[in-house]
This record gives sequence, structure tokens and C-alpha cells, in this order.
Amino acid sequence: YSDTAYEQLPTVIAHRGASGEAPENTLPAFELAASQGARWLEVDVAISADGQAVIFHDERLERCTDGKGWLLNQNLEDLQHLDAGLWFGKQFRNTRIPTLAELLDFAEEHDLGLNLEIKPVIGREAETVWAMRQELIRHPLHQPVLLSSFNTTALKCARTHLPHLTRALLTEAIPRDWQQRLQDLECSGLHFCADLIEPAAVEQIRTAGYRALAYTVNNPDQALRLYDAGVNAVFTDFPQRLLKSATIPDR
Ligand code: G3P
Ligand code: MG
Repeated sequence: YSDTAYEQLPTVIAHRGASGEAPENTLPAFELAASQGARWLEVDVAISADGQAVIFHDERLERCTDGKGWLLNQNLEDLQHLDAGLWFGKQFRNTRIPTLAELLDFAEEHDLGLNLEIKPVIGREAETVWAMRQELIRHPLHQPVLLSSFNTTALKCARTHLPHLTRALLTEAIPRDWQQRLQDLECSGLHFCADLIEPAAVEQIRTAGYRALAYTVNNPDQALRLYDAGVNAVFTDFPQRLLKSATIPDR
């Protein structure tokens, strides 16, 4: 199964864009990450009530917009009336929830690789993957696309409907049975929580030929310790902070 996206993996990935300095999962955060030299973005992909793929982390709208309730209960047109920037800062007023289509066009224009994290509401996995497939066909990207998810149903749907794209399993701690899980899902990598790292497990993952990526790392010293432990790349809210640290291995 596909490992091709990982062949172009940088060591630093902008988590939800440069989400420490601009509202997460919005175009300003993507623009800032690109201007800071990030080569890949990680974003969360969900669907609206009318089945359109949008970039958004939470199931509910309250934290990151001026709307209320479940994302999945609102049509794209209604979602596009919400302000997704004001919560972060007044200067981001009138920022909108991006569609996956907009993100793909932005990535194509700026030569950015993407880690699309599939964030389906439980029970809507197939619809979410299907919506992603539609946009990926309509907006072909010549940059690497890596799919990941905590949701194993979503990963199985991706294997069926987007078989050519590289897949990763997301977890918090590294599961004891990581190898079995990666094999069963035909995933090429494991993305886990950096604070829960077990270096011996990372070594085994790498020795077995899989990639090990860690989230969310905002401290350059922690990033260096992770690379030393064999971690291939880290997700960060502050790409500039990590990229300007001279000792980080080649991006
Ligand atoms: O994909 C890495 C990381 O984004 C997973 O957790 O909650 O930030 O989407 P979360
Ligand atoms: Mg994510």
C-alpha cells in the first residue's frame, strides 16, 4: 500500500496551520504557515449537513465560531455566514470556515503538502470520506496528500475509496498492538501524542518500516528530543519557532 506521501515528508508540519498565531484551520493560519516556510499543513476535515467537506476541528461550533450547535446540523451556506476568526482576535474578523475545495486550491497554488485528518462524526464516516474524494477529484493536487484518522472506520473507507493515498493511524498513546493495527488498516504510519512517547516503541515502529509522527510540539527542545528518538516529523502550532531553530534536521 501507498507510502508515497511520506517520501516527501518534512520534519515540521503546521498543525491546523500556524494555529498559535492565527485562528486554527482558516486561510489566515494557512497563509501564515506558508509564509513562515512550512511545507506541509495538517488540517481537520468534517462535513456539513449537506455533505460538503469543510476544514474544522470540533464537532460543535461554539469554540471557534460565533455559531452554536453541531457543525453536522448546518448546511454549507449557513456555515459560511459564521465568523471563524473573531474568537481568536479582532484582526481576524470576517474569516470564514474554509471548504476542502478552497484548501486544495490554496495548497496547489503554494506548493504545500497536506495531511488531511479525517474527523467524522461517528456514524458519518463514509459520507465524510466520500465528500473528500469528490473534492480531491475536482481539485487535483500535485503535492503529497497524507490521510490520517483516529477513526478506524474512516480509515477503512479511505482504503476503499481513496486507495492511492497514504494512510496513517492516529492514537494518543502508542498502542501495545500498534503493528497489528497498522497491518489491519494498511497504514504506513502512526501519529501519536508527543507527551506520551515511549522511545523503545518508536524504535520498533521505525525498524518495522513505518513512520512515527508526534503531535503537538511547540517547544524546539522537545522537537529535538523527538527526532533523536526516531520521530520523523512533528506537528506544531508555531512552525516559525521550530523552523528557525538551526539544529532541526533538514526540513
Ligand atoms: O493530526 C494530529 C492532531 O491534529 C490530532 O489531534 O485533536 O489536534 O486533531 P487533533
Ligand atoms: Mg488534527
